[in-house]
Amino acid sequence: MTAMVIDLGELDLFTDGDPHEAWRVLRREQPVYWNVTGDASGPGPSGFWALTRYQDVHDAYVDAGLFSSKWGTVMGGSHRRDADSASGRMLIASDDPQHRLLRQQVHKAFLPALLDRGRRMVRDYLNAALDRMLKDGGGDFATDVAPELPAGLLAAMFGLGRADALHLLALTRSMIGFQDPGYHSGSTPPAVLVSSQVEIFDVMMDLMEQRRRAPSDDLVSILLGASLNGRSLTADEILYNCLNVAVGGNETTPFTASAAIQAFMDFPDQTRLLLDDGGLLPTALEEIFRWTSTNAYVQRVATRDVELHGRLIRAGDPVTLWNASANRDEERFPDADRFDVRRTPNRHLAFGVGVHRCIGMGAAQMEVALLLEEIVRRGVTFEPAGAPTRLRSNFMLGFTRLPVRARVTRGPA
Ligand code: HEM
Repeated sequence: MTAMVIDLGELDLFTDGDPHEAWRVLRREQPVYWNVTGDASGPGPSGFWALTRYQDVHDAYVDAGLFSSKWGTVMGGSHRRDADSASGRMLIASDDPQHRLLRQQVHKAFLPALLDRGRRMVRDYLNAALDRMLKDGGGDFATDVAPELPAGLLAAMFGLGRADALHLLALTRSMIGFQDPGYHSGSTPPAVLVSSQVEIFDVMMDLMEQRRRAPSDDLVSILLGASLNGRSLTADEILYNCLNVAVGGNETTPFTASAAIQAFMDFPDQTRLLLDDGGLLPTALEEIFRWTSTNAYVQRVATRDVELHGRLIRAGDPVTLWNASANRDEERFPDADRFDVRRTPNRHLAFGVGVHRCIGMGAAQMEVALLLEEIVRRGVTFEPAGAPTRLRSNFMLGFTRLPVRARVTRGPA
């Protein structure tokens, strides 16, 4: 493969190809790569820059003045082409100082009390799903077990029952997976994107009405009672930030969990190491985040002209920061293509870095750690039981289907 033929916007690469090979070539040959998209229908440039080396991705993250988040982090993730419709109102699509003010408010939903409730609910949901899978000797990990992780967390954060949490998950799944045929049968991808966003807003608006009448300690109640420079948040700000947390919560950890199971199947020696020594859990956890890099890239827009490795990025150009590539950069991680549960140090960029660093990082670590703890405690091993299916997306990396056989190698402690 040469850099000449690489198109990171071509989703077949992410379902049937090897994006890691593409990133390896880009890191080596064209670390600042202009990826032509062939979409010249709008006023903006028909392409995007791709940064793939660890240091470049890191430096772009921390220079938020040069690389703005205002246009949204997903390419084509909004139905407007010029700017994300959430610009300046949603945490992830705003720049400081507005971003900092919003973040202070949303952060209140990530304090220990709510996370503890989340931990209890995730543990209950997860154990029930693992019990079912082990009783059956296997199943589809991506659909039978993985969704229980965010369902438990979001049930706690939004004060929902399990069925409502799973309904919200189905909506955020079709919003993020809008280009996957599994989510748009009989409809077009843009229509799916718009209709799922509208439906999520409907759910959130209902919740706002309920919490206005009967406030509680959930995220919606927190945002209803919040103050931004002495004023209340607007309904739009509340809706967009609930959407941000719901998508951030739902569309990451289940894909991480499934990709972790795939990694354990691909590297049985690493599974054995972890099962034999539960003390490896903290390093195994970070290695899972590095290895899976579920959130493959984030988008920024350059606010002024800048030269990098001899290429001129112009003000207004979209620039993508590829976490998934940075986390396999051989200059940064020795033996980067090896899944190593003992890896340390491991300063990966799976959660980004700088002012937008994932606000849900602690929640994600809690969810995936609970999964690992259960696997170690029960001594569960997995084997493939059919071909997995990857999500048709270059933004989220993960499986929509992961058939496995599962068995317990020791009784519960
Ligand atoms: C493996 C799991 C996760 C991964 C890989 C991940 C990845 C990321 C990344 C890379 C960013 C930075 C975005 C940027 O700089 O533009 C981010 C931000 C964010 N994440 Fe996560 N995330 C995960 C889990 C979660 C969870 C569980 C939640 C909520 C419950 C969440 C909510 C958010 C929110 C609200 C932001 C925006 C923060 C800001 O702009 O200040 N994420 N995440």
